[in-house]
Amino acid sequence: MGSKNKLKRFRENETFKHVIQPTRDEVLAGFNGKGNWKAHFGNSRPIVLELGCGKGEYTLELARRNPDKNFIGIDIKGARFWRGAKTVEEEQIKNVAFLRIQIELVDLCFAQGEVDEIWITFPDPQIQYRRTKHRLTNPVFLSKYRSILKPGGIVHLKTDSEYLHGYTLGLLQGLGYPVLYANHDVYHRQGAPDIVTDVQTFYEKMFLEDNKPITYLRKCQIGRLGDECLTWFR
Ligand SMILES: C[S@@+](CC[C@H](N)C(=O)[O-])C[C@H]1O[C@@H](n2cnc3c(N)ncnc32)[C@H](O)[C@@H]1O
Repeated sequence: MGSKNKLKRFRENETFKHVIQPTRDEVLAGFNGKGNWKAHFGNSRPIVLELGCGKGEYTLELARRNPDKNFIGIDIKGARFWRGAKTVEEEQIKNVAFLRIQIELVDLCFAQGEVDEIWITFPDPQIQYRRTKHRLTNPVFLSKYRSILKPGGIVHLKTDSEYLHGYTLGLLQGLGYPVLYANHDVYHRQGAPDIVTDVQTFYEKMFLEDNKPITYLRKCQIGRLGDECLTWFR
């Protein structure tokens, strides 16, 4: 995308009420949205995040299917989520916001227990050892998610990377997080939820063209007890 186009998108993002773009310094100094997302949406419905949302395909489709919840797409690349933000305006979707931050700061933008669910869609698997700190399911990120999720909150990971899928499952087992469901080839092995197979993101479409299997797993927080926390692998 040309830099002119990017600038146009950045400028348009600034006009959208549903796009929130605090600077890093503002977040570090104490982001006023933290603990106040109910006020932003004007209701106290559950909050669901999509981390590394790109164009926001999951944020939008989840929002259309679940008008009783609020959805926030998070990405550092404003020119990318502009597409989702523009669709929100065109379709007059009321339960979506986009937040432009580094995901590393997510625990400074949401209060403890403020979030019900987190979707992580096609993150870069960061396979090299020296990139471990950037992997969105490493123990540091899992602990940040844990701090903002309600007890019993859910994390979904959809990825083309068998490496990341396996890494995350191993880590979750070691840390004692209940895995609710795992499928290492959602389009060829039965049982994946409709929302997993109905929506294809921009990156996913490229991976599907290369015939890569798409994986999905869902985990819940430590502390969730009851039947829903059965481990279920396919
Ligand atoms: C591979 S793309 C996937 C985008 C989208 N989910 C999809 O499936 O098409 C990863 C996205 O995560 C964003 N991202 C990666 N690391 C990030 C970080 N630490 N903070 C914020 N955004 C990040 C990138 O800007 C990019 O848009």
